[in-house]
Amino acid sequence: MPVTIIVGTQWGDEGKGRVVDHCAAQSDIVARYNGGDNAGHTVIAEGHKLALHLVPSGILYPQALCLIGAGTVINPLRLLKEIEGLRAVGVEVGPERLKIAAAAHLNLPTHRALDGASELRRGKQALGTTRRGIGPTYADKARRVGLRAGQMRAPDAFAAQVRALATAHNERLINFGLEPQLVGPLVAQLQEAARRLAPYLVDGATVIGDALAAGKRVLCEGAQGTLLDLDHGTYPFVTSSSPIAGGALTGLGFGPGAVERVIGVAKAYTTRVGAGPFPTELLGETGERLRQVGHEYGVTTGRPRRCGWLDAVILRYAAQVNGLTEIALTKLDILSGLPTLQIAVAYEVDGERLEHFPAEWGNEVLSRCVPIYEELPGWESDLRAIRRREELPPEARAYVARVEELTGAPVAFTGVGPERAEFAL
Ligand code: GDP
Ligand code: IMO
Ligand code: MG
Repeated sequence: MPVTIIVGTQWGDEGKGRVVDHCAAQSDIVARYNGGDNAGHTVIAEGHKLALHLVPSGILYPQALCLIGAGTVINPLRLLKEIEGLRAVGVEVGPERLKIAAAAHLNLPTHRALDGASELRRGKQALGTTRRGIGPTYADKARRVGLRAGQMRAPDAFAAQVRALATAHNERLINFGLEPQLVGPLVAQLQEAARRLAPYLVDGATVIGDALAAGKRVLCEGAQGTLLDLDHGTYPFVTSSSPIAGGALTGLGFGPGAVERVIGVAKAYTTRVGAGPFPTELLGETGERLRQVGHEYGVTTGRPRRCGWLDAVILRYAAQVNGLTEIALTKLDILSGLPTLQIAVAYEVDGERLEHFPAEWGNEVLSRCVPIYEELPGWESDLRAIRRREELPPEARAYVARVEELTGAPVAFTGVGPERAEFAL
């Protein structure tokens, strides 16, 4: 079976980009299935440090066709900037390498303005979105008033559609008491972007279907993470798409029988950007140390990420809702030098032990969950030169083995540094 899905197991930023880069060497197609430029995926290889937002993380491999799938939302102006930025550092991203599914929805500057406006209106209850207009774009899609990428093929009709949608958004901005955007320049800018992006458009599900029929290998790249999933995450502190493995099927348009591997990317500790409960969050010195040593600042917004201990309740939940066949455990190197490590193995709430992540009961319950920790010994040495799991210090091996026991999923790769080769296999 030719499909592998890479999915985030926590609240995003687990290192999906570098795991996709690792797996892309053996893939014919690398396809993003959800989200938009709220994502920031880092790939460090071949002398490049790429921060990818919309372009799939397989872009450094010439044999891999990169597809931005139907389940995504695309800001055409930002996509063109990203393509130009890649070209400027010598990564060729023409229409022969990159394809855009005609069914993907377009994210306009007015969607971004609306995202900012609704965050402002929420005040202290703000979700802490990336303000990239992701929620408003998916909302327009669900309301069946959105613009699809395929509409960029007919420039005149497209201009009229952009004008109508942006005008409707402006009315809402005015209702928020904010300045509307100038529609004329916005239409002209998007029309020019459409002219440049039209050669990239394809019927995405057909590209995937034909590839699968020909026995080709498809790698599906998730954005965000399980706990940011609209249905199965920590609603309302979630994104507006389906980052879980099921999202790959709906976001790209293929059936479950084609899936061979579902690789859950898990950071060796936990981070979160934006608001919402976080049971193992560390507000003191250790949290600050993880942030500094782990460079935990957002790739997209530069915001400091909230940091905490590894939470096996979350990973067990992710293993269950995604059907993980394996785990890629990243950033184990960042834990070097901590004398002892904690892993949350369960929660205590209302005097009872809870083994399951209470996603469906909402944040009121989650915010009262107190982690029950298990303490493990730390290790001192630098792990970056290690390439085989057997060569890890015994305490680090024990940590990885405990993750396997607590989740029931084997750890197939352990990240010991950010670069392509820095995996202990
Ligand atoms: P993504 O959104 O899931 O692709 O992850 P991000 O790129 O937002 O954040 C992951 C960060 O961790 C990036 O800066 C990566 O370069 C870095 N990274 C990934 N794996 C490792 C690892 O094993 N060790 C270290 N030190 N850094 C890593
Ligand atoms: P990658 O793919 C981490 C978070 C935001 C906010 C919530 C909703 O790099 O892992 P949105 O703008 O999507 O409406 O924001 O989701 N968020 C992410 N957090 N990594 C991401 O992407 C994220 N994309 C969105 O911080 O809490
Ligand atoms: Mg990221």
